[in-house]
Amino acid sequence: MRKVLLFIISMALLLASCSTRLKWSHLTEQAYGLRVVPEKKAYANISNHDILDQHVKRGEEIFAKTAKMLPAFVGDGLSCSNCHLKEGRTPFGLSLVGVVNRYPRYTKRDRRIINLRQRIEECFERSEQGHDIPMDGKAMNDLLAYLKFISKNTPPGTIAYGYGLIPLKPNISPNLKNGRKLYFEKCALCHGKNEEVSQTVPPLWGNASFPWGAGMSKLPKLTRFIYANMPYGSGFSLTLEEAQDVAAFILSHPRPIFKMRRNKNGKQD
Ligand code: HEC
Ligand code: HEC
Repeated sequence: MRKVLLFIISMALLLASCSTRLKWSHLTEQAYGLRVVPEKKAYANISNHDILDQHVKRGEEIFAKTAKMLPAFVGDGLSCSNCHLKEGRTPFGLSLVGVVNRYPRYTKRDRRIINLRQRIEECFERSEQGHDIPMDGKAMNDLLAYLKFISKNTPPGTIAYGYGLIPLKPNISPNLKNGRKLYFEKCALCHGKNEEVSQTVPPLWGNASFPWGAGMSKLPKLTRFIYANMPYGSGFSLTLEEAQDVAAFILSHPRPIFKMRRNKNGKQD
């Protein structure tokens, strides 16, 4: 009898998790207008030990240690994989598996069509307070080779399960007081009490953090990132509303202001 009950409970849990996955897939599909490739297939054979090509390897290394490897082009000490977790291979951790199928495209922010190189440069500028990364240079080519490699299981017209951020948003406004409490209970241990600069965990405000103007500085995006990924290793342990409270608390602190750099013709490079 107990065995039957256990079986029924585990089947119910399995069904519930399948339907959650289906719902998220569907919402991701709607958000990007691309068909979603299931997780197992999309992320197969793209981890670091599957990489043989030297350019791809170097691209992955730059991704993981951007600030260290390209100090001249990074202003805040961040690396791509501080946000695009596990080098862009984590579902709902700003996954980039399939990104090659989204470019070139028109973006509202740029008000023009941009290619993937230009989009990468934007993350250097906006998320890493960096600048002037040569568009045709070795580093850019290697990063591009890496993003192509991790997109190998997502043919044109598709993206991976868990691409980008979780496609959910809270429907109430944030509670700063609760966010403060949660931050000191669940985040300060690693991220520090006050913009302390550590070698391994990025500070979440102050001069060494991402600037206003970075995608992460927008409350909905930061909320969706925290909900699925933080505290590190315990994603989905806060409710969506709690994630929003703590995101609002983080964004109630000062951070650098992003300045659009212009080339000699007065246009954005
Ligand atoms: C501070 C966090 C952060 C850092 C550091 C960061 N990114 Fe991003 N990146 C984001 C966010 C947030 C988005 C926007 C995601 C969205 O709109 O859903 C993004 C978007 C992108 C996109 C476009 C994805 C799309 O679907 O259009 C690319 C490509 C990208 N990042 C590459 C990089 C690379 C390469 C680096 C390192 C040089 C990097 N990022 C560093 C947070 C970051
Ligand atoms: C166990 C340590 C740990 C805890 C606890 C933790 N984090 Fe993190 N967090 C990290 C690490 C490490 C990274 C960088 C990930 C990487 O490089 O792989 C990170 C990255 C982040 C980022 C993206 C990087 C950036 O500069 O914005 C945000 C946002 C974030 N954490 C928010 C939070 C919040 C909010 C909490 C509490 C709810 C939290 N973290 C709890 C370790 C932790």
